[in-house]
Amino acid sequence: MIQIIGAGAIGCLWLAKLHQSGYPCHLVSRPSAKPPQQQLYFTDLQGQQHQFAISHSQQLLTSKVDVQQSTILVCVKAPQVLSALLNQQQHISPHQVIILMHNGYGCAEEVKHHFPENSIICATTANASLLNSPLNVTHTGIGPSYFGVFQSTYKLTIIDNNLKKHLEPLQNVMADVYWTEKILEKCWLKLIINAAINPLTAIHQITNGQLQASQYKALIQPLVLEVFSIAEAEQIDFELTELQQTVSNVIKATAGNYSSMNRDIFYGRETEIEYINGYLIKKAQQHNIATPILSDLYQQIKVLENR
Ligand code: PAF
Repeated sequence: MIQIIGAGAIGCLWLAKLHQSGYPCHLVSRPSAKPPQQQLYFTDLQGQQHQFAISHSQQLLTSKVDVQQSTILVCVKAPQVLSALLNQQQHISPHQVIILMHNGYGCAEEVKHHFPENSIICATTANASLLNSPLNVTHTGIGPSYFGVFQSTYKLTIIDNNLKKHLEPLQNVMADVYWTEKILEKCWLKLIINAAINPLTAIHQITNGQLQASQYKALIQPLVLEVFSIAEAEQIDFELTELQQTVSNVIKATAGNYSSMNRDIFYGRETEIEYINGYLIKKAQQHNIATPILSDLYQQIKVLENR
């Protein structure tokens, strides 16, 4: 069984895909005054609508669940990851595998600190989905998803194969789901994409595609260079021109989208800035690397968040 914490766009997308294939799953959402809704509405990539009766509550299931086999997939935003897990701590066994899927980086260290015996898997996805209303989700774009063990010096062992089993249901229900031993690189690549796109689109309240205008391009190029220098100091191997190209490809591919941070600012919600620019700035300070652009965007988002 897969238990998904977080009823946002990505959590609901995985829930719908698992349901579509008849795979046992359970949704855990944050406490609310209303009883948890038991219907999920899903529009697939072809525009076909589906409705599923789901298992949904405000806490993880412990009875009926073989904890050795059950996986916890955490799909809340980076600032809520630790508290969402701590709220469920008494229902989490040390044998359970915890998968973290969110934008930004830095949560896995915090989670490992509080759940030292659990295996932690970091994940990043390029699937896009839109939450039309609570538990009503549309799959808007496909892209690869990568999963790997959180532990920088991790070597492939027999445990790895056991952990890989937790990925099988996800691989069976969604295209392009991969296990990688280079999860750090995959997460950093997403981090760079988010650092280039999210704060600028949030500050100026523009779509991703509008970043193609020359005044934004002139900021994105040196910003990617800042992040590239930090990655280099962290011994994460990237090619600068490839990185610039990847960022520009994502901007083009998601031209019509409002980034997640754009929406967070628009709706007055907390953003993931601490786990994107905040994380990169901390790493840069450890290596004495100047980050004028990352820091300026960080400050501007903090001002908007506090409004
Ligand atoms: O956070 C987001 O919105 C997405 O990760 C991305 C790739 C920037 C597309 O909008």
